[in-house]
Parts: sequence; structure tokens; C-alpha cells
Amino acid sequence: MNFTIEQYNESVDYLRSRLDGFQPRILMILGSGLGFLGDQLENPIAVSYEDIPHFRPSTAPGHKGQFLFGTLEGKPVAVMQGRMHYYEGYSLQEVTYAVRVIRLLGAEDMIVTNAAGCVNESWSAGTLMLITDHIKIALESPLRGPNLPEFGPRFPDTTTLYTPEYQALAKRAAAELDIPLQEGVYMYFPGPQYESPAEVRAARILGADAVGMSTVPEALVARHCGMKVLGFSLLTNMAAGILNQPLSEEEVLESAAAASERFSRLVRRCVAEL
Ligand code: HPA
Repeated sequence: MNFTIEQYNESVDYLRSRLDGFQPRILMILGSGLGFLGDQLENPIAVSYEDIPHFRPSTAPGHKGQFLFGTLEGKPVAVMQGRMHYYEGYSLQEVTYAVRVIRLLGAEDMIVTNAAGCVNESWSAGTLMLITDHIKIALESPLRGPNLPEFGPRFPDTTTLYTPEYQALAKRAAAELDIPLQEGVYMYFPGPQYESPAEVRAARILGADAVGMSTVPEALVARHCGMKVLGFSLLTNMAAGILNQPLSEEEVLESAAAASERFSRLVRRCVAEL
């Protein structure tokens, strides 16, 4: 189902009625293990997804299902504590609905993070990766259907989807903080099953360094509506078939928790400098 501009505007009107003039500049979509960054906002206003017209609740484990609006490092931000995923049963239009709503509220930038499997065999679990590009060959695009020119063009260019200046800024921030940061390509899989070992080998041959079940739909929609995008993956585990052991959600959540301090310092510094 495609949403209309009227529906997006109804969601925006509701949020305006709750925000008392607050206008976010940066949308932050935080994956497993980083949702707590929202708790570090100054003067936060929480808005539950289920109260916003046309929103869907998030059901994924480790995801709360609310917006927090407030100030982080002096910048007005909207933090999504919990995102929607295709594997929960939502359409890609539903998965990306919030991006357009927050854009209409005035946001110019998006920082998106995720937990992902590590495909690059020279790296290890716990690696932080700056997303330089993505591969999405599964599923239709979230931009499929009637184009809404209020947001952007029919055929958006994705050459510099992950904004080069912001990549440079993130690399500088990581160097200053002495936090190791790799750069690589994220390949989107719809899940909820983890990739098979053969799919992981295929991803590597295609040029991927990481595999995961989020981020790309939101990044495409953000780019379409003219936002600048900065993306990070926390590689919580070696992708399937690389080590001789099964993958588990516990491993992903534990590894996300172990890296959360390092990851949040890096993301906060990027927010400060954006
Ligand atoms: N694959 C897909 N998504 C993930 C993984 C993975 O190995 N780890 C954490 N999220």
C-alpha cells in the first residue's frame, strides 16, 4: 500500500501538536544495542509510534517503538527507538514511513545504525563499519508505486547516497577518538532467517562486507527526499558459514551491548560535528 501526501501530513500535524515548536534537524535510526542513546537526550519528548496516525508499532526484540525528540550534543534530533523491518510483516512503504514524516518536520540529515553480520574475512565480530555503499537485489524498492514529487524525483540517483562529506567527518571523528572504524558495503537481505552460508559467499563475491536486514530501505527513502545520510554497521557476528558455529540472536544482542559504549561515543561525536 502506498501512502498519500495527506497521510504524511496528518502524521506531521500530530507530531507538531506534541512538539511545542521543536524542530529536529537530524533523524537518528538506531539499531540493536544503541537505542539507549535516546536516553541521553536533553529535554526529551517521547512520542509512542502507536499514537501517531498511520504509524505501525515496532515488534522486533531490543526495539522500543517510540520517538524521542530532544537535544544531543547541542543538535535538535529525533531518535527512533526501534525501527520497522520488512520481516515483521510491514511493507517497505511502512518500514520507511517515519523517514518522510521527520523530513517534513524539517530534518535534513539521517544517521542510521544497524547490527549486521560480518562477511569480510579479514575483520572480526565487534568491528564498527562505516557504510560506503549498499547492495539490494532482494525485493522491490520502497519507492515503487506512484512517485510523490513533494518528496523527490521518480528516478533518484544513488551515486552518493551515503554522503561523502559525512563519511569523511565520521572517519575524522573515529581517528580523533581512537576508535577503529572500517569502511565497507552493506548488503540487504529481507530476513528474518539469517543468510545461508552460500548466500554469504555470494554476498562476498558481489562485493559486500556486511549483511543485514535493515537500513537500505530507509536510506533510499531519505536520499529520495533530499536528506544527507550517514550509516554505520556494528558487525555483531561473523556471517553464517564463516565460523564453524550457528548464529544466535543472543550473540547479536550480547555483542551489540559489548560495543555500545564505543559505538555511542562515535555517533555522538558525529552528531556534534554534523
Ligand atoms: N545477518 C543478518 N542480520 C544480522 C546478522 C547477520 O549475520 N547479525 C546481526 N544482524
